[in-house]
Amino acid sequence: MDTDKLLSLTAKLPKRLHAPLEKGVRKLPGVQQLMEQEYQNMLADMEESLHPYRERFAAFSAMPDRGLADDEVLQMMAQVQEEETERWQAGYASGAVYHGDPEHIAFMNRVYAIHSQMNPLHADLWPSAVKYEAEVVAMTADMLNAREAQRIHPATEVCGSVTSGGTESILMAMKAYRDWARAEKGIKKPNVVLPISAHPAFDKAAQYFGIQLIRTPVDHRFQADVKAMEKAINKNTIALVGSAPGFPHGVIDPIPEMSGLALKRGVGFHTDACLGGFIIPWAEKLGYPVPVIDFRLPGVTSISVDTHKYGYAAKGTSVALYRTPALRRYQYFTATDWPGGLYASPTMAGSKPGALIAVAWAVMLKIGREGYLEATRRILETGEQIREGVESIPGLYVLGDPLWVIAFASDEVDIYRVMDAMAHRGWSLNGLQFPPAVHMAVTLRHTQPGVAERFLSDLAESVEEVRSQPETSGGMAPIYGMAASIPFRGMVADILRRYMDLLYRA
Ligand SMILES: Cc1ncc(COP(=O)(O)O)c(C=O)c1O
Repeated sequence: MDTDKLLSLTAKLPKRLHAPLEKGVRKLPGVQQLMEQEYQNMLADMEESLHPYRERFAAFSAMPDRGLADDEVLQMMAQVQEEETERWQAGYASGAVYHGDPEHIAFMNRVYAIHSQMNPLHADLWPSAVKYEAEVVAMTADMLNAREAQRIHPATEVCGSVTSGGTESILMAMKAYRDWARAEKGIKKPNVVLPISAHPAFDKAAQYFGIQLIRTPVDHRFQADVKAMEKAINKNTIALVGSAPGFPHGVIDPIPEMSGLALKRGVGFHTDACLGGFIIPWAEKLGYPVPVIDFRLPGVTSISVDTHKYGYAAKGTSVALYRTPALRRYQYFTATDWPGGLYASPTMAGSKPGALIAVAWAVMLKIGREGYLEATRRILETGEQIREGVESIPGLYVLGDPLWVIAFASDEVDIYRVMDAMAHRGWSLNGLQFPPAVHMAVTLRHTQPGVAERFLSDLAESVEEVRSQPETSGGMAPIYGMAASIPFRGMVADILRRYMDLLYRA
């Protein structure tokens, strides 16, 4: 039987049989070699596109014997930078660069230069790092209504840490819940209940920290199904998770209901506001119909919120917030018996780039509340324009009820081929699966004059192009199509691992 036939037959079997069947198939003689060959064929073209500079620039798999002149190094970097900036600068990328104005970048670079040597691990050498971090946390908590939360719930004392990004904020919150539940409830086999739309950073946390994830469905609006979550909770559940909004469809989960459920069941509740934490508070002030997602809800016990997305700071910072210092303490790491001295670090990293925290601090001061409000107004207006524009393109429809991350799909054309046709026009969009769809995360880049119009006219053209040319080869469409349809998810993971190997080929 050929591979395609086997896979399509397997896809028809109930999902619970896929993993055991895959395990069995892998053990058959010769299958592993066959799979390796298939993987190599699939990834053959990819290496070239991942390393486009090989032919054009000197490549270094070993250090030069004698150091190069500063200018020589800088010139090589300036050349690639020039080529790479144009695309995101002009607004051709979904997400990726959230502010990107040249003056803003120049300001951040100046701040970085002032503090490039700073390491918060040495609080004695850089007490300013302590100040910056504490104030980034305090300003973020304040933006998310921490004072109001404390007024309503006097035991609330919002606190947090700066981390390296959304993923680390989520890792830290999950570790805190695991250690809290172990210490205070004796839970040794912890699980977390969350909708399928929640970010894979939760899977990463689960793998790293030995937590089981119970993924529950979303409804037809792509919001968490709260009843399904309630059913999934058991005696080992340590926390529930909701997204504000979720990455795939930009849809905000019913956080008030979900956190209410967590409160009722005595478990933690994490709002993942990595994407929306710096938008939703301002959207609320602007009168948009957004739910409360923060500590004003008594059930919310932690929030992740990314300064390096809509906080407009440089890449490499986020904030993990907790309702109480007692919960945050479970995030910390201490080592008391090391010959190197007493050691304590609050987050995953040991030494860390204090300059990036300084950048986040400086950006928040520079933009201020009025600046964030205005940025949010522009993003939400552009989001609405894009949403309405997509809805008016024959053959496309928008998923859920999003504000500024707009996911769309089609019943008439292959949406992954539309994504490829958009890529030919310069666009870098995000491909989604289950169901096949594509999204555009609106940033300040797209609020520049003419960008939304160009996006919509290119999109309309791309849909018509795909409609009029039913078959083409190449591009990402076959890979996305294949990955979405393969029932053996271990094989898809194998391909991803080999893809990552390719990244490291110097
Ligand atoms: C909702 C959500 N959570 C978590 C993350 C992970 O953030 P990071 O890529 O900064 O680790 C993202 C990233 O896009 C996100 O959209």
